Amino acid sequence: MDRSVGVLVGSLRKESFSRRLAGALRDLAPANLRLTVIEIGVLPHYNQDADDEGRPFEEWLTFRQAIRAADAILFVTPEYNRSVPGVLKNAIDVGSRPYGKSAWDGKPAAVVSNTPGAMGGFGANHALRQPCVYLNMPTMQQPEAYIGGAASLFSPDGGIAAATTRDFLRNYVVRYAEWIETILGAKQA
Ligand code: FNR
Repeated sequence: MDRSVGVLVGSLRKESFSRRLAGALRDLAPANLRLTVIEIGVLPHYNQDADDEGRPFEEWLTFRQAIRAADAILFVTPEYNRSVPGVLKNAIDVGSRPYGKSAWDGKPAAVVSNTPGAMGGFGANHALRQPCVYLNMPTMQQPEAYIGGAASLFSPDGGIAAATTRDFLRNYVVRYAEWIETILGAKQA
């Protein structure tokens, strides 16, 4: 079945490896999986007053709608100080409110962390899984994706240079497509 996947990139940097990795995953995904980045850099910081007083920011409403419209959510993120970059955590918070109306509820998720360093962004990857539990986002456990050496990952055309890494990532999105069907297929049965 065709599925739309909203991709959240945890970096706003122009030359972000995470954004390039998200593009590579989009290109490697099976034909039935449509990956589209949902932008998070435009979101004002979450402030509960704005929701409580009935004056949520337009950007929040547009974002919440985009999350609701997606069948599934893929996080592609760097690690900041062994955790989730603030801009991504803010997006998660914005999508989670008003209380009882979370846009994330039930969305099958997956987490790809990356770093130019050696540890694959493990801290960010697992920190991100914590709100996914609370937000009732069934998050793929295996395969995991901790991508190290991000600075030498890409070929000049933006693809993944090494065949082994390309195969790993292709398999990852295929398994994610299966995971989405496991979760959403069971709901629709
Ligand atoms: C980093 N970086 C980093 N890397 C890492 O592997 N573990 C970490 O804890 C951190 N912490 C950290 C904090 C802050 C504030 C910055 C700006 C950077 C380095 C980071 O992986 C590197 O800058 C990446 O290039 C960021 O990802 P994008 O922007 O390329 O997607």
